[in-house]
Amino acid sequence: MCGIIGIVSDKGNLKDRVIEGLKRLEYRGYDSAGIALRTEEGLLIRKKKGKVSQLEEELRNLRISSRAAVGHTRWATHGEPNDPNSHPHTDCRGEITLVHNGIIENYLELKEDLRRKGHRFRSQTDSEVVAHLLEEELKEGGSFMEALGRVVRRLEGSFALVVLNSREDALYIARQDSPLVVGLGDGENFVASDIPAFLSWTNRVVFIENGEMGKLTLSSVEIYDFQGRKRDKKPQIINWSLAQAEKGGYKHFMLKEIHEQAKAISDTVGPRIERDSNSVVMEDLPLSPRKIKDILILACGTSYHAGLVGKFYFEELAGIKTDVDYASEFRYRKPVLSPSTLVIAISQSGETADTIGALRKARSLGGKVLAVCNVVGSSITREADAVLYTHAGPEISVASTKAFTTQLSLLYLLAVYLGREVGKIERKEEARLVSGILSLPSRIERMLREEKERIREIGVDISAYTDALYLGRHLNYPIALEGALKLKEISYIHAEGYPAGEMKHGPIALIDENLPTVFIATESKVLDKVRSNMEEIKSRRGKIISLLSGEHPEIEELSDAVIKVPEVDEYLFPIINIIPLQLIAYYAADFLGHDVDQPRNLAKSVTVE
Ligand code: F6R
Repeated sequence: MCGIIGIVSDKGNLKDRVIEGLKRLEYRGYDSAGIALRTEEGLLIRKKKGKVSQLEEELRNLRISSRAAVGHTRWATHGEPNDPNSHPHTDCRGEITLVHNGIIENYLELKEDLRRKGHRFRSQTDSEVVAHLLEEELKEGGSFMEALGRVVRRLEGSFALVVLNSREDALYIARQDSPLVVGLGDGENFVASDIPAFLSWTNRVVFIENGEMGKLTLSSVEIYDFQGRKRDKKPQIINWSLAQAEKGGYKHFMLKEIHEQAKAISDTVGPRIERDSNSVVMEDLPLSPRKIKDILILACGTSYHAGLVGKFYFEELAGIKTDVDYASEFRYRKPVLSPSTLVIAISQSGETADTIGALRKARSLGGKVLAVCNVVGSSITREADAVLYTHAGPEISVASTKAFTTQLSLLYLLAVYLGREVGKIERKEEARLVSGILSLPSRIERMLREEKERIREIGVDISAYTDALYLGRHLNYPIALEGALKLKEISYIHAEGYPAGEMKHGPIALIDENLPTVFIATESKVLDKVRSNMEEIKSRRGKIISLLSGEHPEIEELSDAVIKVPEVDEYLFPIINIIPLQLIAYYAADFLGHDVDQPRNLAKSVTVE
């Protein structure tokens, strides 16, 4: 995780620009932050435990002229978050400094070797060894780039590196299994873990691949492989706007992103619908629909919950047997795949280490991988056999919201498409299912308008409890899991999601007046069963909050609070139902005064195992 940035430029104040870039990367980690600037007197380094704003405050009165600088915001892996462990790290003489994202797995043996050669270490991090290795390799002669090549060939693990030295206005970079993207400016160049870091200065980018290193100066960008052979790289234009990467008047990114869901769904679904016939058009899949015998979905966290809903879609709409696995579990099992298994890897960031590991394992077993991803050019999209992009725009808040609803929308369309292609769905039914999802955005907007205040009150109420239970059945069971995940990750209230029918097999023992239960009780073929589960909770004095659609006075009677969800087709309820649950979590966390966008211990892209 961690966010890194480097800038070579003779425009503006580089210290302020690096801080600005770091703020846009802070979703990747926020344990500590640091900056290094090259000056005529040598390297100036400042680093500090805490958030980027604390570093900014410390540097407020620093006036310094510099044309090359790097910055880092950290999510600690090796070594506790404190000042010495913060990046940038330097060699013994303070002439080389670098920022690193990833884990150097063989750092202990490298460190031992360097210690024997007389190197002194100031931190407990794995990253610092790279600065000392460079110092050592430079003694062997040759250019800085050659020395970097010799260093990266010795490193095991994952790394995105940006290196600065005291002699040149230049940045040296290298990448293996951690993201790195170069931004091409006008007489200035940038490099960062993610595009929003430099989006206010350029949208022309070059994605750095695994096994590549390079050099950035004011006027040039050269990329090589680790053996020193030059690579020809094509720049791409990114059509994300800066407004998408800013709060735009909302108190938090999470609240903004919750409100962007109607548009994000339209942007994801719209280009894949043939309007005259309301039929689905799909990009090429790695297996033709009739050759797919089964589907295996691999993902983590919220994306895994999207996969659980996807299972219903593929089995019920397309009649294709589907399994869903946690990527972190799949990669260490001995799974059975056949050449007719379509593997779907779902990831917002496209950089989740476990999902990348699972994707590689699936491919090594002969599986054909389709990525469902939100970030253009990310690792998962490059390693998959084919990609379907969600068009949610940049998701900055650590808690995933609009990525989830766009993933669900895309899986729904894919299931409708497969159903049609394998002859399970007729054209008329396809048109009905498509028109359902096309009308979803306006219903979401209506719900937000009409129910937001009530949801806010419920969120504030829930913040008084230490635990909460989320129950749903069938398509809404994964939504109960996701609702509970949202609450726990940002409000730190312990929450469990459960299939409502499982209550009586154990968890019902927990029920009393101190445990509120959120029931997802929108229209479905199992609604009567859900109502019976409510009775079981009520008769044990449990407090009930219901998500309801249509007129059900008997459910309202059982409920202490009700949120009204507009009526949609049964398969679309998961997409709309999660939105009030995201808002409950948001309002609870905000009321408790937590840092909603950057919850403790978390980071947006989990690029470590
Ligand atoms: C929860 C959340 C995480 C991610 C998970 C996978 O709000 O954001 O659970 O869903 O880390 O991330 P991606 O989808 O980027 O692979």
